[in-house]
Amino acid sequence: MQQVRLGLVGFGNVGQGLAHILRDYAAAYEQKFGVRFVITAVADMRLGCVYHPQGLDLAALLAKVEKDRTLKGLPDAQPDWDALTLAQQAEMDALAEMSYTDLKTGEPASTYIREALRRGVHVVTSNKGPVALHYGELERLAQENGVQLGVEGTVMSGTPALRLGREILAAAGIRRVEGIFNGTTNFILTKMEEGAPYPEALHEAQALGYAEADPTGDVEGYDAAGKVVILARLLMGVQMGMKDVDREGITHLTPEDIRQAKQDGRRWKLIGTLEWKDDRLYASVRPQPIPISHPLAGVGGATNAIHYTTDLLGEVTLIGPGAGRLATGYALLEDLLAICQLTPG
Ligand code: HSE
Repeated sequence: MQQVRLGLVGFGNVGQGLAHILRDYAAAYEQKFGVRFVITAVADMRLGCVYHPQGLDLAALLAKVEKDRTLKGLPDAQPDWDALTLAQQAEMDALAEMSYTDLKTGEPASTYIREALRRGVHVVTSNKGPVALHYGELERLAQENGVQLGVEGTVMSGTPALRLGREILAAAGIRRVEGIFNGTTNFILTKMEEGAPYPEALHEAQALGYAEADPTGDVEGYDAAGKVVILARLLMGVQMGMKDVDREGITHLTPEDIRQAKQDGRRWKLIGTLEWKDDRLYASVRPQPIPISHPLAGVGGATNAIHYTTDLLGEVTLIGPGAGRLATGYALLEDLLAICQLTPG
C-alpha cells in the first residue's frame, strides 16, 4: 500500500473540507487507488499547529476544531510551530497550501510554497495569490527540485477547468475563453433576480462560505480577475499582471438594472473573458447582460462555468461548483492523485 504523507497549511473552509474527505473516504481510496493518505501536520494562523510524523488522528482533530474552534490542547499540539515551521520541517511528501489569498503580494502563501518545493516536497494549492503572481517562478522551482505543483483548485474549485484546458483541449487551439469564475457574485446576482436585496444576498453568500475573507475581492471583480490571470498563464501561455485585466465589479448594478434585463430576455452575469485578437491576448472581467439563450445564462447560484472556443473542436462548456469546502477540498485531492499517478486499480 502506497502511503502519501501530507502537511496542511490553512485549516479553514478548504483545509477542513479536504480533511473531511480524507476522513470519510479513506477506506474507499485504499481500495480503489491502493493509497493511504496520512496527515502528519496542520498549521493554521488562528487555530494553532499540530504535528506527528507518524500521522494525526483526523477524526479527533476535526471533532476538536468543530467543538472548540482551536487545535490547541490536542496531544500533538506544537505551540512553537507555525505554518513556516511546518513548510520547513514537517515530514511529508506533499504540502496542501490553503491559507488565505492575497492577490497583491501572494504572501505569506508563496513563501510556504517555496520552502516546501526547495525541500523536494510536492505542493498542491487552492491559493490564487501565489499562482496568479508567481506561477512561472514556482513551477521552475518545482522542476529544479524534481517535484510537482498542483493548482487545479485556484479556478472553479474541483471542477477541472484547468485540467480540461491544459490536457484534453491542449491541441485543439483555444482561441477564446469566457466564464463565470466567481461564485459569490453569481450567487448574489441570482438572489437579486429573485428579489433579494444586495446586502442580504451578500450576507448569505458569506454564511455559505463562498465569499473571500474580505468580500470586496469578490464583488469588485478582483477574485475573478485573478482567475483570468491564472487561465491566461496556464491555458494561453501568457503571463499577465492583475492590472492587465480590464476589470469592473457588480456593486453599481441596481435592482432596476436586473429587472430591466429580465424584461429584455437577458440576465446579468459577471463574465471573465480572454481573447486573442491580432496576436494579442485581451483580458476582462465585467458584468454583462447576456441573452437567456447564451450557454452561461442558465448557470445560477454559486455555480461556475467556462466556455472554451477552440479551432478544432468548436465550442465546449464546462459547468460545476466554483467554491465551497468540499468542492475546493476535492480539487487538492485531484492534484494529489495526478501527482502520485494514482488511477483506479
Ligand atoms: N470567493 C470565491 C468565489 C471562492 O466566490 O468564487 C472561490 O475562489
